[in-house]
Amino acid sequence: MIFPNGLALCVVMVFCCAVKWHRDPAMEGHMPRFAPIFILLALSGFILLICNITSLEKWNCQAMSTFYQIQSSIHSAFKTPETLLPVDLNHTYCAGLGREPTAEEAREMLYLLNSISWPGPLVPGLPLRLSSDPAQSYFVIRGPAEQQVGGQLVVDVLMLNFMGQPKKHGGDFLVARLHSPELGAGVAGRVHDHRNGNYTVLFPLLWVGVVQVELTMVHPSEAVVVLKRLRQEQPDRVYFKSLFRSGFLSETTVCNLCLPHKEQPLCNYSDPQTGEPWYCYKPKMLSCDTRINHSKGGYKKNLLTKYETQFFQSGVNIKVPIHSSGMDNVTVLPARKGPPKIRSNKFAPAGYYYQDTWRPLSGVVMRQFNDSSAITQCLKGKIIYMFGDSTVRQWFEYLNAFVPELKEFNLHSPKNVGPYMAVDTGHNILLSYRCHGPPIRFTSVSSSEMQYVANELDRIRGGSDTVVLVGVWSHFSTFPVEVYIRRLRHIRRAVVRLLNREPATLVIIRTANLQKLDPESSLFNSDWFSQQQDAVLRTMFRGINVRMLDAWEMTLAHHHPHLLHPPLTIIKNMVDLILSHICPVRKKKKRS
Ligand SMILES: *[C@@H]1O[C@H](CO)[C@@H](O)[C@H](O)[C@H]1NC(C)=O
Ligand SMILES: *[C@@H]1O[C@H](CO)[C@@H](O)[C@H](O)[C@H]1NC(C)=O
Ligand SMILES: *[C@@H]1O[C@H](CO)[C@@H](O)[C@H](O)[C@H]1NC(C)=O
Ligand SMILES: *[C@@H]1O[C@H](CO)[C@@H](O)[C@H](O)[C@H]1NC(C)=O
Ligand SMILES: *[C@@H]1O[C@H](CO)[C@@H](O)[C@H](O)[C@H]1NC(C)=O
Ligand SMILES: *[C@@H]1O[C@H](CO)[C@@H](O)[C@H](O)[C@H]1NC(C)=O
Ligand SMILES: *[C@@H]1O[C@H](CO)[C@@H](O)[C@H](O)[C@H]1NC(C)=O
Repeated sequence: MIFPNGLALCVVMVFCCAVKWHRDPAMEGHMPRFAPIFILLALSGFILLICNITSLEKWNCQAMSTFYQIQSSIHSAFKTPETLLPVDLNHTYCAGLGREPTAEEAREMLYLLNSISWPGPLVPGLPLRLSSDPAQSYFVIRGPAEQQVGGQLVVDVLMLNFMGQPKKHGGDFLVARLHSPELGAGVAGRVHDHRNGNYTVLFPLLWVGVVQVELTMVHPSEAVVVLKRLRQEQPDRVYFKSLFRSGFLSETTVCNLCLPHKEQPLCNYSDPQTGEPWYCYKPKMLSCDTRINHSKGGYKKNLLTKYETQFFQSGVNIKVPIHSSGMDNVTVLPARKGPPKIRSNKFAPAGYYYQDTWRPLSGVVMRQFNDSSAITQCLKGKIIYMFGDSTVRQWFEYLNAFVPELKEFNLHSPKNVGPYMAVDTGHNILLSYRCHGPPIRFTSVSSSEMQYVANELDRIRGGSDTVVLVGVWSHFSTFPVEVYIRRLRHIRRAVVRLLNREPATLVIIRTANLQKLDPESSLFNSDWFSQQQDAVLRTMFRGINVRMLDAWEMTLAHHHPHLLHPPLTIIKNMVDLILSHICPVRKKKKRS
């Protein structure tokens, strides 16, 4: 499909160049009259040939390339996944209350949902005693007690139930890290589910020293089944409300992406640009125009049956470590043959910690910005836009607190909600933060401040002095993944438009991170929801010229307990990584 368009594009480009040249006064009089036409013909023939042999993905037809890249990445992404599991498509959710997807959008949706499909329920109604018990499950390190840097550590995991019998099916949600506490080193592992109760975890061996395996069962498969059910059947388990006011009258009604609208009339606040749906029940006395603000209504209670509750017990089956049946560590020796080569592939980790400092494995060389003047130097002349949830706001807060020259401009914004702005007029630095549009669980956002990231991006000119940081994930965990996919699609399109306007714009996307879980918060914020969103996010932005900030691995690999808002030490690493992208170290020319 792409090829004929590309050909046409190249022809047009050559034609434009030739016309421009023809008009160029410097050239006038120095050429025979028909020369431009001959040149045009010759050139277009040449370009046609090149276009024919060079795939457009490699051929950098600058302005249009982003569009083609994204198209082709989506097309190539449509290859059938290895194993097709039934997809949880819920057509009834928001049916008639959102914009109909196009055929292309529906295909992409199906592909993405397939790519994150999770097995289960494999044995419906399994009693607790036959469900996964992390205390009895164990892992075994494969291979010798001494291994080498550059190699791979393989760990076998055997899941047992509370009766001490091996599990016969997979689907447990496990996370793993390999670490050396005294070195401040850590890296995330990759877990492979064999779907028979056995799992394999792979870790790259990246540093010399004693390394320990840390394995955690976040949820048993029996709990994941419950989370899947909640996501589809209880999308309003976090609910929202709005205050309507006019003169002395005020009313509060319930709002959401979707509302059962048979009984009561609705106010439609869907976004005209993106089509993102948002509704409130119409107040009895007031009109829809009188909406003042938006806020979290609350969390629904009694979501689980008595049976389901058993699979969400702190200290029993939520985020419980799995121990080794023997050794939990190996000694890593220097590589025998020269320094190790770390292949960056789609399974390689994004980076690792060493001396509590993040070291990315590809993309950028990490710099340390320990004093504020280095940050000021780096940000000189830049405009930094931050959009998203409170996990992005943490970067604003860090920079604002750490760099004294940056003065926060008081916009009289409510605490934690924003928008925020900080300026350093001396160095021409502008820093801003704005939260994403609904659903957002903040205490109270003025209706005038409820803006969608995609629309905000459309208002940015962009350029080499513009940095855009986006992190949208946490407030979507209670909705079907379709809602998140749709939101990301709109953001992606706006990013592509921005990069098309100004390809030099630096765009960094933050992924989800792990957090502290208890029986209650698991139902709303489980890492399992985040992990699913995270996978979708990575696929959505594949092939687009954005940088990923892998908050998932940066929180998993770190020794600090998981928190929704990662601690300062991780935030510093994230900000240093962002600054390293903004102000990369100059590459030394290699001599060979
Ligand atoms: C382009 O390649 C196709 C087949 O690969 C060939 O049929 C066609 O003639 C080529 N066109 C030009 C202009 O070279
Ligand atoms: C709400 O408004 C949007 C856009 O303005 C429109 O597409 C949608 O159909 C409306 N919803 C309903 C239920 O009328
Ligand atoms: C799981 O691994 C153990 C140990 O390697 C092996 O004995 C067992 O047969 C495996 N289970 C299945 C179902 O393959
Ligand atoms: C789809 O969602 C609705 C509520 O939004 C729920 O009643 C229904 O059971 C769900 N269907 C499936 C197949 O999950
Ligand atoms: C490594 O494992 C061995 C055997 O379990 C244990 O004795 C030793 O203390 C461990 N070393 C470290 C550094 O944890
Ligand atoms: C920054 O601080 C860390 C930890 O204090 C230190 O290890 C590192 O060498 C420092 N880097 C620079 C460039 O000052
Ligand atoms: C909404 O606005 C009203 C009036 O400004 C304010 O009193 C209230 O705290 C805000 N938030 C909520 C949740 O109603």
